[in-house]
Amino acid sequence: MGYFQVFLLLALIPGSTGLDNGLLRTPPMGWMAWERFRCDIDCRKDPTNCISEKLFRDMADRLSEDGWRELGYEYVMIDDCWMSMQRGSDGRLQPDPDRFPGGIANLARYIHDRGLKLGIYADMGSATCMGFPGTTLDKVELDAQTFASWGVDYLKFDGCHSNAIEQSIGYPLMSKALNWTGRPIAYSCSLPAYLGGLPPNVNYSYLGNICNLWRNYDDIEDSWASVKSILDWYSTNQDDLQPAAGPGHWNDPDMLIIGNFGLSLDQAQAQMALWAIMAAPLVMSNDLRTLSADARAILQNRVAIGINQDPRGIQGRRLLQELGHIEVYWRPLSHSANALVFLSLRQDMPYLYRNSLANLNFPAGSFEAYDVFSGKTLSGLTDHTIFTVSINPSGVVMWYVYPVKHSKMSHQDLIE
Ligand code: GLA
Repeated sequence: MGYFQVFLLLALIPGSTGLDNGLLRTPPMGWMAWERFRCDIDCRKDPTNCISEKLFRDMADRLSEDGWRELGYEYVMIDDCWMSMQRGSDGRLQPDPDRFPGGIANLARYIHDRGLKLGIYADMGSATCMGFPGTTLDKVELDAQTFASWGVDYLKFDGCHSNAIEQSIGYPLMSKALNWTGRPIAYSCSLPAYLGGLPPNVNYSYLGNICNLWRNYDDIEDSWASVKSILDWYSTNQDDLQPAAGPGHWNDPDMLIIGNFGLSLDQAQAQMALWAIMAAPLVMSNDLRTLSADARAILQNRVAIGINQDPRGIQGRRLLQELGHIEVYWRPLSHSANALVFLSLRQDMPYLYRNSLANLNFPAGSFEAYDVFSGKTLSGLTDHTIFTVSINPSGVVMWYVYPVKHSKMSHQDLIE
């Protein structure tokens, strides 16, 4: 029996699944090339921005020198278009020799030397989405071995150019193949996005056993419309999606586009706040070399990051959709704390929104609310206090709310 048949057999044995790599107990944080740099492979015309080892080294420098790594942003992730158009004579994937002259192992070393981790991209199928060599079923083990030998720490496994049967075999097979390398490699599966993202086509409890995270839905684009449509899809389907998330296994609504061209500052705060509520990966796709101070402040907000990285790992939910186009989101956190996000989908002027914590299902008691983006604390709240927040159009107010009976607690507990 060949390797391929053995793999097929194992893929079919019940109970033989189980990623169990102990990774990503909180959602991954880092930087990924795709949304901002796409498949720009013309390094002669665009040497600064083309997909090349220089781009990833530049981003690793920024992550390690500009305070990102200390906040948890640790993965530097290559997406599509890194490969040579042909596999090597040994059948292995190889990087484009002009754009990655030092090879991936060398790049991994550069990244590891800076206390960071390397992510790479492959595709379950005959070709990647952009037409580079794919990982057909007979190549799954070889590619896993190759990535491990290079020192890769994270694999995004896309699903272009394969059918549902190949995918149903290939994704669990890659999970096992990664485990068998003995190297801890976080595993991001795009499978649900290719199956419509919802049960019964997608079995999320099964997926939670074989993948650390998964793309469920459309690719993010550089616009508020795109952020809104992703948020709305996850919220509309939250009964199916929210229970699927937890330590080691996360829904992935795609990259943070904060710092690019499509979002206002209010919209950028909204993406940060809502991705924190959704326990989403905080994976930026922007140019860290030219990021504005405003964008940096949002992405480096320690309380928003602390909410995202809460160790209970419970994904939040949309609680309310008001007729006035205000939505309220909630996520339960450690130490009986909670995150609340008030989102305005209005297009007129800052809106004064009134509510009480009791009306948002809080228990009786006294609370304080730390406003994550203004840095102000609101004291003396009880469950029945009618509070008012002023929410900018396509903006948010985000609160970290904690009971005062747990004395001496503050937002500092979250960020220490
Ligand atoms: C798919 C994925 C994107 C990106 C591209 C690359 O569309 O969903 O995130 O990886 O492929 O071609």
